[in-house]
Amino acid sequence: MTTMPLSAQPDALSPTTVEKVAILDCGAQYTKVIDRRVRELNFYSEILPLSIPAEQLKDFAAVIISGGPNSVFAEDAPAFDPQILSLGIPVLGICYGMQLIAHTMGGTVQPGALKEFGEIAIGAKTGNPLFAGLPAQQVVLMSHGDKVAQLPPGFEPIAHSGDILAAMMHAEKRIYGVQFHPEVELTEHGQAILHNFLYQVAGLTGNYPLEDRLSQTLDEIRQTVGKKNVFVLVSGGVDSAVTAALLVKALPAEQVFALHVDTGFMRHEESDTVCNALRSIGLKHLEHLKAQAQFLDATTDIDGRVVGPLRQVTNPEAKRRIIGDTFFKLTQDAILAMNLNLDETFIAQGTLRPDLIESGNIGVSQIAHKIKTHHNDVPIIQAQREKGLIIEPNRDWHKDEVRKIGMMLGLPADLVQRQPFPGPGLAIRILCTEQPYITPQFETLNQAVNAEAGEIGLQGNVLPVQSVGVQGDYRSYSYLAVLSGAYRQDWEPLKATAIRIPNRLHDINRVALVLNQDKPLPAELRHITPTHLTEETTGLLRRIDHEVAEALRQSGHFAGISQLLTVLVPVSLTPGRHSIAIRAVVTSDYMTARPAKLGEELPWDVMTELANRITSQYPIDWVMVDLTSKPPATVEWE
Ligand code: XMP
Repeated sequence: MTTMPLSAQPDALSPTTVEKVAILDCGAQYTKVIDRRVRELNFYSEILPLSIPAEQLKDFAAVIISGGPNSVFAEDAPAFDPQILSLGIPVLGICYGMQLIAHTMGGTVQPGALKEFGEIAIGAKTGNPLFAGLPAQQVVLMSHGDKVAQLPPGFEPIAHSGDILAAMMHAEKRIYGVQFHPEVELTEHGQAILHNFLYQVAGLTGNYPLEDRLSQTLDEIRQTVGKKNVFVLVSGGVDSAVTAALLVKALPAEQVFALHVDTGFMRHEESDTVCNALRSIGLKHLEHLKAQAQFLDATTDIDGRVVGPLRQVTNPEAKRRIIGDTFFKLTQDAILAMNLNLDETFIAQGTLRPDLIESGNIGVSQIAHKIKTHHNDVPIIQAQREKGLIIEPNRDWHKDEVRKIGMMLGLPADLVQRQPFPGPGLAIRILCTEQPYITPQFETLNQAVNAEAGEIGLQGNVLPVQSVGVQGDYRSYSYLAVLSGAYRQDWEPLKATAIRIPNRLHDINRVALVLNQDKPLPAELRHITPTHLTEETTGLLRRIDHEVAEALRQSGHFAGISQLLTVLVPVSLTPGRHSIAIRAVVTSDYMTARPAKLGEELPWDVMTELANRITSQYPIDWVMVDLTSKPPATVEWE
């Protein structure tokens, strides 16, 4: 096999001995975040199974035992080698990790007594290395049902929340435990606590900075690839752009071949931005395939039936399928047309460290290298994987690190800071429809929404369109409610109304506020504008999307939003026109999200000025702002 090794070999590559931190895994969700935090503090980390024999940890400089969903009393509680606590290596147990230490070293853990979930205040003693330099009162995130009731011999308490022990230490043995999660953002001084553990308690120096890791990666690329060619598919996003930039830096320009497929559903100048940026840092062989017409005219086979062309399809899943299949086909054809000898050519992928942790391939399982199937995993790429001709130069980095590496490699800031953008792009932000969506409940729902909106002095409507949501464990495809009227007050009543409506009326999963006041909605709106994916609808949405992003960028509000998007909605006052919905969410994991606050994160003056500009310049009647959290609505509308 000629694939790059899974974990970098820091000792072999670095002239100094790299300080290694072991993260013992009790539950992958937390482990990934601890790993990111430790790496931000300039340490090399390895994620290892909790069951690892102590013997194998001897050359580690510190051990962190992660939190996890288990109770030490559960029959299937993850096992651990108690000798780890006698190695003389500093240990930090987090949550379950702390209970494991207490339980093993002769303390008492009380089951199920503590039901602290969420942010709570603790009082910490600050005269010890773990809390040194931090305020005594601080907010932390607790999330466990068990608590340490009695300390093991030699330990002393160093933080409390009421009568609950929040942290403990054995100063001499350098063994610490925290009942809360220092790795999460909601723990106010979490990163400082981890910093203290590694630098103060363990006395380490942090000798694995990103700069060194970048030069190691460039060396590895050279060693692995040798004189062979490398192909990379550049999507427009951050990860693949950084992969391409690494190849360009590491190898002679002659050896690097890139392809960018412009589906026609990209954002304003997105394709040109990424292609120009890569050319300007030295990428020579770059094929920029402009394929909008091919996508719009494409069909696909779904269950033996020909579906399409895309420009006539309204079903969101069918749209996704046609775009995905067409992307596969065009990519495959383009690679073949490049005449690369695929028995002698590497393919580079933008896989990140969290992707590998999720699929259990970093340390934890130590089995063959399997990775998640990617959107672009066309048969040619699968074949390269079989031949061991895949390289993943980003595989040692988390998202923020990839952005930093991108900057270090000379990619422009607006490219490396890009927000996530779905593969099907603007195609799933144009609600396509031929008929109004009207069920027998329409009229009653419309009245009920109007009554709810009336509680804050607004008009309420149900619109005859569907958008996607998540309600309970299920995806829903339900009505949109809109609020309209003269309203320029606090965010809180708007937010409360947007929560109340889908809670009370289950056929509604999304609530938006209309910003324009000059075109009131009729009491009941039953018509739609038949809408499809075309050059016109896509071009219209692309221009408006750019205008919205620019307005917020110029007002200084763009950076606080995790994802900002614009949706073309097929409703209007005058038949044949459309509306626009602005969706701005704040989230770190995209599993849940909250809407950006109107009047604060989305200032009223910026938003109303923008709405007036859009309705005066484009065939758009209403500009609305999505007020819904995820759940019950998703981030995207389709
Ligand atoms: P939802 O809409 O599920 O979105 O709340 C969560 C995140 O996933 C992105 N997303 C997609 N990405 N193909 C993608 O590559 C898709 O079909 C797709 N649908 C949603 C979305 O942009 C958000 O960041």
